[in-house]
Parts: sequence; structure tokens; C-alpha cells
Amino acid sequence: MSNSSVIELTAAQQAHTHACAERVRHEIKQQGGSIGFDQYMQLVLHDPAVGYYHGQQKIFGASGDFITVPETSMHLAYCLANACAQLIQDDPQRSILEIGAGSGRLACGMNAYLYAWGQLPARYYIYEPSEALRVKQKELLETEIPEYVYRVEWLPNLSGEILSAIIIANEVLDALPVKCFEVQAESIQERCVVLTEDGNLIWQLQDPASDLDAALNYITAMLDEPLGELYRSEINLGLENTLSAWSDCCEQCVIFLIDYGYPRSEYYHPQRSMGTLRSYYQHRVFEDPFTNPGLQDITADVDFSAVAKAATHLGLGVLSFGAQRNFMLANRLLEWQPAAGNEVERIAQIAQLKQLTLGSAIGERFQVMVLGKGIDYGADRFTMRDMRARL
Ligand SMILES: C[S@@+](CC[C@H](N)C(=O)[O-])C[C@H]1O[C@@H](n2cnc3c(N)ncnc32)[C@H](O)[C@@H]1O
Repeated sequence: MSNSSVIELTAAQQAHTHACAERVRHEIKQQGGSIGFDQYMQLVLHDPAVGYYHGQQKIFGASGDFITVPETSMHLAYCLANACAQLIQDDPQRSILEIGAGSGRLACGMNAYLYAWGQLPARYYIYEPSEALRVKQKELLETEIPEYVYRVEWLPNLSGEILSAIIIANEVLDALPVKCFEVQAESIQERCVVLTEDGNLIWQLQDPASDLDAALNYITAMLDEPLGELYRSEINLGLENTLSAWSDCCEQCVIFLIDYGYPRSEYYHPQRSMGTLRSYYQHRVFEDPFTNPGLQDITADVDFSAVAKAATHLGLGVLSFGAQRNFMLANRLLEWQPAAGNEVERIAQIAQLKQLTLGSAIGERFQVMVLGKGIDYGADRFTMRDMRARL
């Protein structure tokens, strides 16, 4: 669905997307006429001047573009707080480091629960690359948890040395740049981004660079069935660098990666022949990532087998992997009590609980992978059903 025509933009939005498109055109010309989709995604989502996550628009929640799990209910915050409380009991020196904190909703919820249980971590760090989001997170935390917001510290970068950390990245991996490819009769081609004569952005197939070629050969060799002609999908070649940046800032850590995605055999399933790339604008899904660059979110599901491979290569242990609902059930979800409120709110909260647990889209599509550096815990600590064998 490419329907830029149905989107009415304010003058400020028009200026923003114009500046973002100009930035992309400049980059394409600088690089000799084409860029990889990963470079495009990096620019339109994460460029500090024109990127989607750095703009002033409302991103999260009902009046934004999409809703993440922490925006819909407190349950994930409750279960993550439970997992963290146990880890903090084991080692009170542990700090929490939340990567990409979005609106700050998860940080509010987790701090509130940990405070109520007398289990606040040594420190709650947030690493958030977007200045605009950092400002919004601080505002929310100052309003919602004024008593202990002073214990929350925003890190300007990840170069610091935290002794022992619990790292949490909820729906961050899906926002990271991916390369796109298409299977042709004789080869697999990279889907790059080029300009038409009128300066519009379009796809163009090109021979893949050697790193992409090697990664694609590796994937296809691991699959049970060959990918059919015209099969399209995505691959994140930056996973190892990302995990290394996150884990290098501490001597010891447990990392919770929570996201929508699959093990490799499902990710590159023959039926998923159009890949997982999509864009969101005001809760509508768009297939064309070139519509209004800088104003729409772009996301791709996570290949958790690739995450496990990158982690193992870095010497991190893969401690558990499984559906989010099985992580939540292992972390006292069923002991959760609805917050005091009127009857309508209580019923809504119980309905959310059912949605997260009863074989629902959310509970099954979202996965939790737990990694460890210098630490080993049994998988049953983190999930009711460990699925590492499927990675
Ligand atoms: C989809 S939002 C998820 C927000 C939040 N964790 C939640 O679940 O509501 C992605 C978040 O990751 C941040 N982000 C994007 N790229 C990042 C990177 N390379 N390192 C750290 N954070 C990043 C974004 O600025 C944003 O806060």
C-alpha cells in the first residue's frame, strides 16, 4: 500500500520530510548513485538532524504512530521487574541499563515496582541516542516517579564501565538498519536505493558486496528449503557490532532482548516471501518505505538465530529463548494484581493480561532472548518453555 496521497501533512511535517529526503538524495549522490537500504534506514530513522526518532512528533501511543507493549499495559514492566529483582537479590551491586527507552514508560513501571518491593538497583541507566526522546523520558519520569527519578541516569554514550549490569532492550533490535535482498534465477541481489531522474527514491537490484554475499550464502546453506525466485527479505549485518557495544560497557551482564521475530527457519520461511519490512504512520501499515521519509517508522522482524550467532561469536552465553508469554509466566505474571482503579479499568487490565498469555498474537509473536556475559543461569529461571533448540 503506497498511499502518500491520503496523508495530509502539516507545514512542519512537510519541512521535516523535505529536509530528510534532501539528506538522502545528497548521500546517494555522494556515494556514486546508490546506497544500501541499511544506510537509508539509518538516515531516515536515526540521523540526529532529520531522523524519525529525533523529530518532535508524537511517536508512541494512541496519538502516535505505533504502540509498544509497555505502552499498552504494566504487565511487561512487572515481569521484567521480577526478573531483575531476583538478579539484584543475587548481587545488590547490579545496575539496570535500559537501551532505547522510547517514551520512558517501561522505566517508570520497572522503577515503581522495584521501589515498592525495596529492590531498586544500584543505578538505573538509560542509553537513548535521541535527544528529543531523552527530553520526553525525563519529563515522564519526573512526573510519574518524582521520589526516585534522581537514581536514574542518562548515559551520553556506552563507553563507561559498569561493573555488573542487567541490560534491557525492548523493541530496539527491530528498529536497527537492515539490508534488503531479492532472490533471482541465478543469484541473490541486494535491493539498493537510487534516484529517478525526478529525484524520487526507488529500489534497484545490484550485486551484493562480499559481506552480504557471504551472510546470504550462510543463511541459504542453513535452510531446509531453497528460497524461491523473487523471494524478498532482510538481514541485519550490524548485530555483532550492536551487541558488542552494549555488552562491552560492563564486566558482567545479563541481557534481555525482547522483540518480534522468529528463529531462522521461520524467518526465512518459504511463505514469508515478501519479507518482514514495513512502515508505520499513525497506526497504518505501509509497504513503501520511501513515503514521507523521516515521518514514518520503519521496522523489520528480528532473526533470533542471527542474534544467537552474533552473541556466541562475542563469547556471550545464550541463556534462554522463548515466547514472551512464557517469559512472563516464569516471572510471576499470574501473581500480578490489577492496580486500584474503577471497575472498567480493572476489567481492561485483566483483558490485557489475557491477551498477553492466551496464545495471542502478542504473546507468541514477541520473543525474549536472554544473554549472559561472565554469568550462567539455567533457562528455567527466565522461561516456562526454553526454545533454544529451534535457533
Ligand atoms: C521502537 S522504539 C522502542 C522504545 C521502548 N523500548 C518501548 O518498548 O516502548 C526504539 C527505541 O530504540 C532507540 N534506538 C534506536 N536505535 C538505537 C541504537 N542503535 N542504540 C540504542 N537505542 C536505539 C530509539 O531511539 C527508541 O527509543
